[in-house]
This record gives sequence, structure tokens and C-alpha cells, in this order.
Amino acid sequence: MHWSKTQSRARFNLATSGVASFPLCELPIDLKELEINGDNSYGYAPLQQAIAAHHGVDPDCVVESEGTSMANHLAMAAIIEAGNEVLIEHPAYGPILDIAQYLQANVKRFRRAEEDGWAIDPAEVRRCITPKTRLIVITNLHNPTSAFTLNSVLREIGDIARSVGALVLVDEVYLDAVYENTPRTSFHLGPEFLVTTSLTKVYGVSGLRCGWILAQSDLAWKMRRLNDLYSATPVYPGELLSVAAFQHLDLLRERARRIVEADRKLLRDFLKQQSSLSAVSTEWGTTSFPRLSRDCGRNADAFLDRLRSEFDTSAVPGRFFEMPDHFRIGMGVDTEMFAEGLDRISRALRQSD
Ligand SMILES: Cc1ncc(COP(=O)(O)O)c(C=O)c1O
Repeated sequence: MHWSKTQSRARFNLATSGVASFPLCELPIDLKELEINGDNSYGYAPLQQAIAAHHGVDPDCVVESEGTSMANHLAMAAIIEAGNEVLIEHPAYGPILDIAQYLQANVKRFRRAEEDGWAIDPAEVRRCITPKTRLIVITNLHNPTSAFTLNSVLREIGDIARSVGALVLVDEVYLDAVYENTPRTSFHLGPEFLVTTSLTKVYGVSGLRCGWILAQSDLAWKMRRLNDLYSATPVYPGELLSVAAFQHLDLLRERARRIVEADRKLLRDFLKQQSSLSAVSTEWGTTSFPRLSRDCGRNADAFLDRLRSEFDTSAVPGRFFEMPDHFRIGMGVDTEMFAEGLDRISRALRQSD
């Protein structure tokens, strides 16, 4: 997070994970209706209802949060006690690991294998689980690879969790980037599931910090009470704008979709031409996680430093996902910039050969 706030900038910035900003002037709203203060002690009812309707769940199961970041923190803090065992996928989005460590969990890992297209193997989860496991954490789509996990696999994970009285946390911040037959949230799969997500990555309105958790109502209430310690009350104008965003969600999503799809096509063509890169191709998602071949030193850091200093282009080092021979490329911001960024990556790779 610190790296992305301070060192990811470049003219050709492929170190992104979310789509282009959606401009306020294109959101069909009457700004005179904005207000600073309002009734939102434990969330703003129209926003709770909009989120609940979006997922087909009871509003009592919706906990507002500042982005998926705070959603993950609240969810894990409400469940984990020091010493509890938590199973987290590998590779993982770093802050998820950091939260578990901050809460003094005993963190164990289950592997997503590149040779299996980064899929979750339930047998691997079964091998790692113990009676002490309190929580299993998954991202769907997976960050950094964008691998998609089917409900049938999630159901198996739910069965494994239930067998030891554990819960399954699914971070679905990228799930709505499955633009066709978008799956329903895994919250519907059973009482052992809880879900975190937000409007930040797929809808281009990150600045609203509109995030939430879906949890069974007793656990949801525990999270709201815990949030009294952190954010106390949400930002009311942000909630009003978030309700407006929900009213025009298709508009926001379609605008981003056009860019993501154009970028994915460019990325596929690019990868076909790169002998020093290999990557699992995914149908959906805003990120890809190529691996550098042995000839390029197999440590992406040196390559990415040169890419930034000599080619003014950035991508995220794989070390942030515990895989230093990989790097992450983000799609969905600006297709012209993306095309030029890819071209610069290929020139930098040619220099390394
Ligand atoms: C898997 C995952 N969860 C959560 C977040 C944080 O999202 P937000 O901006 O909604 O806090 C990110 C951001 O990159 C992410 O990749």
C-alpha cells in the first residue's frame, strides 16, 4: 500500500488494480441535493437498502465500511482472537496477511498453483485445515492473478470450514468485473460465508470509499459496534453520492467495461509475442500476473526499476505478493496509455535479452 501510494507513479502507469475514475459530472445527480450531515449513526438506511438490493440480502446483514480495506479489517477483527489459526491463500493481497498478523493470528497458507491456472484446490485447503482453524480467506476474483473461483469450489471450501466450525471470508472487490453471467455473491452459499467488497475497483468511484461487509446479522452487529472504535460514523455526503452511484451502477460498469475489454485484447496479443514472459490468461478481471523467464534474471525488481527509470512505465513488483519473479499489470484505465505501456515493457524486455 505504501509502495503504491509513493512509488507507483509513472507516465505509463500499469501499476493499477482498479478502473478509470468515473467523473462526477457524468453522474446524473442534482448536486443541490447533497447535504453535509444526516441520520447515519450505524449507516445510512437508503445506502444499506441499495447494497442489500444489489446482492438480494437482508439490510441487517450489511455493514458499511470505508472501502474493502476497512471491511477486511472489521470482518477479521470481529472474528479472530490472538492465537487463532487463519488459512490464507498464497499468493495473497498483502494487506489481508498484514491484518491477520496485526490481530496476532496464527497464519497458515494454502497454495494456488500457477500450473493449475491459479485455481483453488479444495484438497489443498483440506490438508491445511485443523480443528483450531477459525477463518479461511480467499479473494474472488483473485488478486493478483484475476483467477475466478466457481461456486462449486467455494461450496467445497464452505463444507471444509463447517467441519471444524470455521468461517470463510471472500473478498469480492473484483467480482463484478465478471461482465457476463456475473455470479451472485458467495454470501448466499451458506451461513459460514461472509463477504467484503466495495465500489472502488470495478466502478471507478474509489474516492467515495463506499465499502461493505455481508455477514450474518449477529456478526454484522458486532462489526458495527467494533467500528464505533474506528470510524464512528460514516461520511454522509459520501453516502448520498454512493446511493446515486447505485442508481446508475450499469452506467458506471459499462463505461469501465469498454476500457477493460480493449486492454485485455491488447494484453493477449502482447503476451503471445513475449518469449520472456508467461502468464495465465483469464477471461475477466483488471489485473494479470506475468512471470519473467529465467533469462531475465527471474527477479522482477531490477527489471521494473529499469522500466520505470528508462521507460517511464510502472507495474507492481511480485514481491508484494511473495512471488518476486512475477509482476502485476493493471487494465481498465486508459487504452492508449496501456498500449504504450505494453510497448515500453516489450522494449525493456528486448534490452534484457
Ligand atoms: C483484494 C483487495 N481487497 C481490498 C482492496 C482495497 O480496496 P478498497 O480500495 O475498496 O479499500 C484491494 C485493493 O487493491 C484489493 O486488491
